[in-house]
Amino acid sequence: MAAAPPAAEAALLLLLALLALAAVALRRGDALSLDLYDVTCPEVEAAVTAAVRQAMANDRTVAAGLLRMHFHDCFVRQGCDGSVLLDSTATVTAEKDGPPNASLHAFYVIDNAKRAVEALCPGVVSCADILALAARDAVALSGGPWWVVPVGRRDGRVSLANETTAALPGPTASFDQLKQAFHGRGLSTKDLVALSGAHTLGFAHCSSFQNRILRAQQGVAAADDPSLSPSFAAALRRACPANNTVRAAGSALDATSAAFDNTYYRMLQAGRGLLSSDEALLTHPKTRAFVALYAASQEAFFRAFTKSMLRMAGLNGGQEVRANCRRVNPS
Ligand code: HEM
Repeated sequence: MAAAPPAAEAALLLLLALLALAAVALRRGDALSLDLYDVTCPEVEAAVTAAVRQAMANDRTVAAGLLRMHFHDCFVRQGCDGSVLLDSTATVTAEKDGPPNASLHAFYVIDNAKRAVEALCPGVVSCADILALAARDAVALSGGPWWVVPVGRRDGRVSLANETTAALPGPTASFDQLKQAFHGRGLSTKDLVALSGAHTLGFAHCSSFQNRILRAQQGVAAADDPSLSPSFAAALRRACPANNTVRAAGSALDATSAAFDNTYYRMLQAGRGLLSSDEALLTHPKTRAFVALYAASQEAFFRAFTKSMLRMAGLNGGQEVRANCRRVNPS
């Protein structure tokens, strides 16, 4: 076979190099590993678990905060890239200061975990991995399932508040809007129902469910949302009166809000789902069937939740291992 002429050979080499680079870039985005830190940072899991356990011992709301933070990280930008952890700067308003993130909390737990991990193995473990591990620990330490978290995420360098509202569905989202948001991230309607089960933990402020109560006071003819149980609506109206001025007022998302269990689905079936987006899961036959399944079997819920968390946590595509979760590395 005749040798390729120099110009063609150079072009071929360039093409091969570009293909190799593209493959590396794709791997960065996709390939997570089960044993990445076995040698480089074997104590990472123990360090993160200790930080979460200690914070939860002092404050039972931490678990919900960490789980929601991971979701909000994974749904904006390049997926689970720690972009939600970055602080705003003089020139950039970061995701954490975007409207849907106003009530995110427990960032200090990630700072504590990162500090502990950096002391063990500096520059090895990304903030995005620490958040994914901490969310898993938050679930398990609240009585939910435990699963192995594949690792190797990279931290992103961009975080923009104005990308949050479009990416994160709001509490009044309809079934179609929820479906669209999840499909947009490559997640299914089954994932939507299973991951909404995260509302077994935590709390919502009055503003998140005001649309379901007090309509009469707002001049709308109909009173409370008819899909809401009347006694539940009355309790919510007491917690959030029309003239409420207490910013911290609100309601637990389910009746056992510090325990990770399937009460959320049973409450939904009883007309006691708190947010319109929770209630929306009952408006479609397919999602209604999943709600019934998870309400009947906590085991089925735990299995589905684990699978969906793994799918959500697999979205990634950052560039670096940040030294400080609140700031990008100096370029
Ligand atoms: C399906 C679409 C979803 C919508 C529309 C939604 C919306 C909300 C809203 C409005 C709140 C209350 C915020 C407040 O008033 O302070 C909340 C709380 C919460 N969400 Fe979701 N969420 C959704 C899915 C998820 C998912 C997928 C997860 C996690 C996997 C999650 C985890 C949580 C947790 C744990 C809380 C309680 C937070 C706390 O107590 O600090 N949510 N969500």
